[in-house]
Amino acid sequence: MSDTSKNATLRIGDSSYELPIHSPTAGPDVIDIRKLYGQAGVFTYDPGFTSTAACDSTITFIDGDKGELLHRGYPIDQLAAKSHYLEVCYLLLYGELPSAAKLEEFETTITHHTMIHEQMHNFFRGFRRDAHPMATMVGVVGAMAAFYHDSTDINDPRQREVASHRLIAKVPTIAAMAYKYSIGQPFVYPRNDLDYAANFLHMCFAVPAEEYVVDPILARAMDRIFTLHADHEQNASTSTVRLASSSGANPFACIAAGIACLWGPAHGGANQACLEMLKEIGSPENIPEYIARAKDKDDPFRLMGFGHRVYKNFDPRATVMKQSADEVLDLLGVENNPVLATAKELEKAALADPYFSEKKLFPNVDFYSGIILEAMGFPTAMFTPIFALSRTVGWISQWKEQLADPQMKIGRPRQLYRGETTRDYVDIENR
Ligand code: SDX
Repeated sequence: MSDTSKNATLRIGDSSYELPIHSPTAGPDVIDIRKLYGQAGVFTYDPGFTSTAACDSTITFIDGDKGELLHRGYPIDQLAAKSHYLEVCYLLLYGELPSAAKLEEFETTITHHTMIHEQMHNFFRGFRRDAHPMATMVGVVGAMAAFYHDSTDINDPRQREVASHRLIAKVPTIAAMAYKYSIGQPFVYPRNDLDYAANFLHMCFAVPAEEYVVDPILARAMDRIFTLHADHEQNASTSTVRLASSSGANPFACIAAGIACLWGPAHGGANQACLEMLKEIGSPENIPEYIARAKDKDDPFRLMGFGHRVYKNFDPRATVMKQSADEVLDLLGVENNPVLATAKELEKAALADPYFSEKKLFPNVDFYSGIILEAMGFPTAMFTPIFALSRTVGWISQWKEQLADPQMKIGRPRQLYRGETTRDYVDIENR
């Protein structure tokens, strides 16, 4: 625990309470309220946790005002430009960039865990073909606990590590199988001669009838998308994984819970919702109507891909993603993509509008990712599964960190109760 030489004094009526203040290596100080209820008999109130630090962590740091994102201290733009996803996975899991030998060992381990138990194929056939692939992923990833019993004991460090490797390696295979099943094509097995991103593209787009050669530029863009989504501090799905893990649930159940939470359009589902919104807008001349709707308090419509709980400046991932969108669309010869044209005009119009600039609503990671994924040939329903497979390493790194935290307790928030006080039961004849 960090320096507690500073205290906050809370006065309630004639009483005052000293609350320790902890200073981080970066970011705001925190007021330690763990003893508050016991001392003062009051709860704090923070629905949505806008002012609440739920844990200690050393994995990812975000400065929302500067638009800064660090993984173990390394800026995301440097990692996106110079590193690659499996190296970032190693960094998130173990805290340091690997030596060449350690990286090769890690990549070999992941590569040799990419197949799933053959009997798990049966799960897919129980779903409707038109099931959303996120529904399939929640089910099949959770079902991993029914097959990999030798890596479910959370008290065994080696089992925790094997479960981490299995999840990073197998979730892309499950996502690709969910896609293949949804389009009625046969599953494509992983290949050990391909790197992580190329293997995922091959499992999604190869067919038995002919050879599929992965374009290295698309593989690089796919890898960059994985890297940009790898971890993001204590977001809703990561907090879900931590809360599930605090009860001692097995890693596969915890990651399935994270996938379920990510699915929502306010979170990881925003990339699908954003592309559907851009297509509904259709062309730049319709933008003013949608900007007006987004500003109208009586209209639930929001600009998907805009705004963020933490970033009150540009999301640094969106900046990198925008560059990638230009590269990929140029490569594919679709630089005149009407959706991209609408996206760029919408970004320009929104940023020029005081409503968005005053509320600090800038494009987030989901604004451009869908454009790249669609250009690559993915249907919108696959956008969030791709976010989920990318974020699996972040979830599992935070899961491991929490299990190693001596302060860890089961998460159990309280409430501000506004319901009925005690009253007696009324027999039905008297109601
Ligand atoms: C992700 O937490 C993470 O780190 C998440 C993530 C990760 O990597 O894990 O970064 C991934 O989830 C990115 C966000 C993707 N979601 C979207 O793009 C959906 C659209 N965005 C909004 O739903 C919203 O901006 C949130 C959910 C992202 C953030 O919401 P907050 O922080 O709770 O902010 P808020 O809802 O309180 O909004 C503040 C004000 C409100 O107006 P007032 O009530 O103050 O007048 O801004 C307005 C909102 O109405 N507002 C928007 C808006 N987002 C917020 N108005 C129009 N369009 C929007 N997109």
